[in-house]
Amino acid sequence: MAGRQMQCRVLILGAGAAGMMAAAHAGPDVIVVDHAKSPGEKIRISGGGRCNFTNLEIEPHKFLSQNPHFCKSALSRYTQWDFVELVSRHGISWHEKTLGQLFCDEKATQIVAMLRAEMEKAGARLWLQTQVQEVTHADGRFRVRLDRDGQTVEVVSPVLVLATGGKSIPKMGATGLAYDVARQFGHQMVETRPALVPFTFDGQPFAPLAGVSVPARVSAGGTSFDEALLFTHRGLSGPSVLQISSYWREGENVCVDLLPGTDLAAVLKAKRQEAGRRALSTELSALLPSKLVGFLPLEEPASINLADLSDKRIDALADRLHRWLLKPTGTEGYRTAEVTLGGISTEGLDSKTLMSKHLPGLYTIGEAVDVTGWLGGYNFQWAWSSGVAAGQAI
Ligand code: FDA
Repeated sequence: MAGRQMQCRVLILGAGAAGMMAAAHAGPDVIVVDHAKSPGEKIRISGGGRCNFTNLEIEPHKFLSQNPHFCKSALSRYTQWDFVELVSRHGISWHEKTLGQLFCDEKATQIVAMLRAEMEKAGARLWLQTQVQEVTHADGRFRVRLDRDGQTVEVVSPVLVLATGGKSIPKMGATGLAYDVARQFGHQMVETRPALVPFTFDGQPFAPLAGVSVPARVSAGGTSFDEALLFTHRGLSGPSVLQISSYWREGENVCVDLLPGTDLAAVLKAKRQEAGRRALSTELSALLPSKLVGFLPLEEPASINLADLSDKRIDALADRLHRWLLKPTGTEGYRTAEVTLGGISTEGLDSKTLMSKHLPGLYTIGEAVDVTGWLGGYNFQWAWSSGVAAGQAI
């Protein structure tokens, strides 16, 4: 091979959330390689530039995986409180926004700077703008051929950590490298799909409502989320929709309750007694944005008086608004998905250390693994916890 050869104790591929965290805990003589210009780019853009770095209510059932128990060990050994302590130790101020979601008061780049500082303290070297060309393994050592500034460098290491994340947002440099290398060494894959992603519909039916947001309960695949739903030009978005996208499958309906927690039939019947000459649309507009009321397929004239509606018609109308069935054509895909569902099967990994069961010295962490969290800081917590689990085990 032309070019230099180097040895190190630990080679980490990917300087994202998980890779940097692992480097900070992996002891001396660590090299972290990334093809991007800067580390932690997804951290930088996350949470609208404020990084929703963890959640106060981390619980294993808020993570999807073929093995729902797999995440428990790492999450319980490096918790949200451990990360909060780290953030606070670095003087980064934070706040809880909603549903236990913790954000930086100032900016997400503070988290990137914190992780860089932790890596530097641990003595890890960071090689940016470095391309991975080939990974091989023989005699207990990994050989990774890299391209640094047009020069070929072969790094030889007994430990290789795959931390290159999932496929979401290819424009930001997401690749399937971790999957390819894991597969090369005999690991099984769980089919990947975009998750935490908006739904699309043929013919853009919701374009007239673009920008309208309502609290809703959105259900699919036996799960429901009560959060905001946002109508967009292309379809549906907002936290409740992003959450349910992880549970939805092509061809299935999504059920939207536009008035969760309100018994619409009871409300309309009571109003009919009290103010029977009130128009249906007036009453509904007190409960929902009027633009949405004008759009809904009510099957009743909007101007009809409440007094003219029988119990049966009120029940049917309430049912339509509590159980509005919609069939998305698809999702916006990896272009905008926050995460990738599926990935490297946990079957071949040790849950305490994230090390391969087939190939000692090979670790896989973060989003590349078949563990996907809910929206709200869960995915970063998995990156921190799995990174620390591997780092400490190395
Ligand atoms: P991550 O993607 O962070 O890092 C992978 C690294 O590997 C990158 O630096 C990449 O450049 C590098 N890489 C990839 N392929 C490579 C190759 N072939 N060669 C070399 N390097 C390579 N989560 C959360 O909990 N709270 C939030 O607020 C948000 N917000 C958010 C917003 C947006 C827009 C997105 C896209 C995602 C989020 N997330 C989130 C999800 C979160 O960003 C994600 O789960 C973690 O970053 C995953 O961490 P990893 O370290 O596994 O991958």
